[in-house]
Amino acid sequence: MTAVGAEEIGNSDVVEQRIDELLNRMSLAEKIGQMSQLSAGSGYAPDYLGEGLRQGRIGAVLNVVDVETVNELQRIAVEESRLGIPLLVGRDVIHGFKTIFPIPLGQAATWNPEIVRMGARFAALEASAVGINWAFAPMIDISRDARWGRIAESFGEDTYLTSLMGVSMVQGLQGDDLSEPGSIAACAKHFAGYGAAESGRDYATTNIPENELRNVYLPPFRAAVDAGAVTLMTSFSDLDGVPATANDFLLRDVLRGEWGFTGFVVSDWDSIHQLQVHGLTADDEGSAFAAITAGVDMEMSGDVYAGQLEKLVDEGRVSIGLIDSAVASILRTKFQLGLFENPYTNPGDYPPIANEATLEAARKAASQSAVLLKNDNNALPLSVDKLARLAVIGPLADAPYEQLGTWIFDGDPNLSITPLQAIRDLVGENVEVRFVAAMQTSRSRNTEAFDAAFEAAKDSDAVLLFLGEEAILSGEAHSRANIDLPGAQAELVRRVRETGKPVIAVIQAGRPLTLTNIVDEVDAILFAWHPGTMGGPAITDLLFGVESPSGKLPATFPRMVGQIPIYYNQKNSGKPPSADRILHIDDIEERAPQTSFGMSAFHLDAGFMPLFPFGHGLSYASFEYKNIRTNQTAIARGERIVISAELSNSGTVAADEIVQLYVRDLVGSVTRPVRELKGFQRVRVEPGQTISVSFDLHSDDLAFFGRDNRRTVESGEFHVWIGGSSAAELRGEFRLVDRD
Ligand code: GLC
Repeated sequence: MTAVGAEEIGNSDVVEQRIDELLNRMSLAEKIGQMSQLSAGSGYAPDYLGEGLRQGRIGAVLNVVDVETVNELQRIAVEESRLGIPLLVGRDVIHGFKTIFPIPLGQAATWNPEIVRMGARFAALEASAVGINWAFAPMIDISRDARWGRIAESFGEDTYLTSLMGVSMVQGLQGDDLSEPGSIAACAKHFAGYGAAESGRDYATTNIPENELRNVYLPPFRAAVDAGAVTLMTSFSDLDGVPATANDFLLRDVLRGEWGFTGFVVSDWDSIHQLQVHGLTADDEGSAFAAITAGVDMEMSGDVYAGQLEKLVDEGRVSIGLIDSAVASILRTKFQLGLFENPYTNPGDYPPIANEATLEAARKAASQSAVLLKNDNNALPLSVDKLARLAVIGPLADAPYEQLGTWIFDGDPNLSITPLQAIRDLVGENVEVRFVAAMQTSRSRNTEAFDAAFEAAKDSDAVLLFLGEEAILSGEAHSRANIDLPGAQAELVRRVRETGKPVIAVIQAGRPLTLTNIVDEVDAILFAWHPGTMGGPAITDLLFGVESPSGKLPATFPRMVGQIPIYYNQKNSGKPPSADRILHIDDIEERAPQTSFGMSAFHLDAGFMPLFPFGHGLSYASFEYKNIRTNQTAIARGERIVISAELSNSGTVAADEIVQLYVRDLVGSVTRPVRELKGFQRVRVEPGQTISVSFDLHSDDLAFFGRDNRRTVESGEFHVWIGGSSAAELRGEFRLVDRD
C-alpha cells in the first residue's frame, strides 16, 4: 500500500487511492470484519478478541480505556493480521474524560460555543492519551421534554443553539486536522428525532412529520456534517414506523443524497438486532438486510452483520458494491486519523491529565453554565464581611461523584472540588460554616435530620440549600414522570424557611425541574445543572460575587409536568392564549356554563406560560433594553438587514449579558413558530454604561422548509425582538419583499 508522508495523510486524493488499493486486497470476510465494532472491556480483551483480530473480523472496539490494552489490541490487528488494518477505539467522551465539564445541557446554558469547543478539545486530549480515537459525541437530539433522561446530554430545545454547540463540539474533538495527535473522530448522534420519544420515556416511539423533522430535528445534524463530523450514530427509536437504524429516508435520501455525507454511520448498541424487537424484521438475516440497505456501515456490539452479510452477498441479495461503499467509508476515517502511520499511543506525548489549563477551562465552563433563576431582595451575592455564620444544608453540597452528572464513565470524582469544600476555602476563618446534609440522598423521605438542619439555619445569617437530583436520575433509560425535586426536599425547604433567614437554593440536576412548589419559599435559586469536576469553585465564585451569573436557559422550565411538551418556539394555534390565565379549578363557580367563546389554548390549572422561559437568566447587574431599530424597513432575497438596540446596566457591578435576537415570520406556506432564536452574543457592560448591540441578518437566515418540504425564503412581514430571554418585549419589524 502507498506509504505517505505526514503532510499527505489528510490529502483526499491520496486517501481515496489508498482506500481503493486496500479494498482490492480485502476478502469479503475481511470487509465485513471492518463493519463490526465489539465491546472490549479492559484487561483480558486481547485474550478473547485476539483470534478475531488476527483473522481481520473486527474493525473497531469500544469501552477499553487502559492504554496498555489498547496498544496490545492495535498491535495484534496491525502486526498479526493479514492486512494490518488498525482499529477504531470508541468511547462515550460526552462532556469530558477524566476531567469532567458540565453536562452538555449545562454547557448549552453558557451560550458560549467557544466554551464547548475548548471543553471538547481538552476531553479529546485526555482521551487520546489512553488510545481512544473516536468519541460518541456530540449528542444533538432536540429535546422539548424534561421528563426525558437524555435531555441532560443534549443542548436543549432550540435548533439554532444546538446546531452551534454541536458544531463547536465537533471542532473541539476533531481539531483542524484529524491526523494530529489529540484529534479524535466525532460522532453526531442519535440520528434522528430521538428526543421526541413519546411521554419522554427513553427509547419510546417518535412520530415526527417530515416538515417538523426538517425544520426542527435535522438541522443540527446537517450543521455537524457540514462542519466535518466523520461519523453519525443511528437512534434506537422508531421514527414514523421505520426505526432509525433501518431508515433509508434518513440515511440514504437525506444524509447522503441531500447532504453528501462521506463518513460512516454506526448503529447504536445492538440496535440492528433490535429491529426484530421493534417488529420491523423477523430475524437476523432480515435485520442485516434492512440495516445495510438503509445505510448503516458499522454494527456496534452485535453479531448480526458478522453472522449474516456474507450469506446475503453470496446469495446476491446484497451487492458487493454496497459492502465496499460501507467499508470505504470506515477506512476513510482510519486513513484521515493517520492510524495506519501511527496506530500506537504513547501517553507521554500528551499533556498530564487534569492539568491546570484543563481544570481552569472546566471551572470557567461551570461558572458560565449556572443560571440565576431568581434573586429576590438581592439575597445574592453573599458577602463574607456581612456573614458570621453560614448554614450549608442538603445532600448535594458535598457529593463529588454526583456533581459530575451522567455519562462520566471515566470521570474521576477524586478530582472534584465540591461546593462545601470551595465555600470553606473561600471564607476561611472569617465565617463559621455549619454543614448539615439533612438527607442521605435526594430521594430520601427520612426527615429525622430536619431538626438539625433547622437549628443550623436558625443560628446562621444565611442558608445555602444544595438540592437537586443525583447523576443517576437522568441520562439514558432514566426518565422521570414527575420532575419535582425528589424525596422530601420540598419539605426540607419549608422547614428551613421557618427560620425566617435568607435562603438561597443551589440546584444541581440533569434536566429542568418543576420548582413551582418551592419557588416562593426561597429568596434565590442558582441552577447549576451537574457542573462537573470544578463545580464547587464555580458555584462558590458566583454565590460570593467573584463572578456574576451569566447563564441562560437552553430549555424551558414548566410550571407543571402536565404542560410538557412546552417550548418557546411553539406555533400560534388558531386560539392563542392572550394572558397568563391560571384558572384554579376551585375558582370556577358551582355550575360553570360550558362555553368555548373567549377561550384559548391553556391549561385550567397551569395557564400556558412556563415557570421560567427559554433564554431566561438573571445577573447581579441590572440590564435594560431600549431603542430597537433596523437599518432598513425592507430587504429582498440575498440582502442583509441590521437590527440594533441599546443595552444599559443600571446596576452597581459589571457583568456579561447574553443578548438574544428572536425573529417571527408572521405568515408562511406552513405555520411558523411565534419566535425563533436567530442570533446571540455575549457582551460585558460596566455599571452605568449603555452600549449598542446589533445583529446582521441575511435573508437566508429566514429560510425554512415549506409546504413542499423544500428549503425556501418567503416574502412577508417579520417581527424581531432583542432581549435577555425568549420573553423579550422590545420589538421591531421589517419586510422581505419580492424584488427582481
Ligand atoms: C448507548 C447510547 C449511545 C452510546 C452507546 C455506546 O446505548 O445510546 O449514546 O454512545 O450506547 O455506549
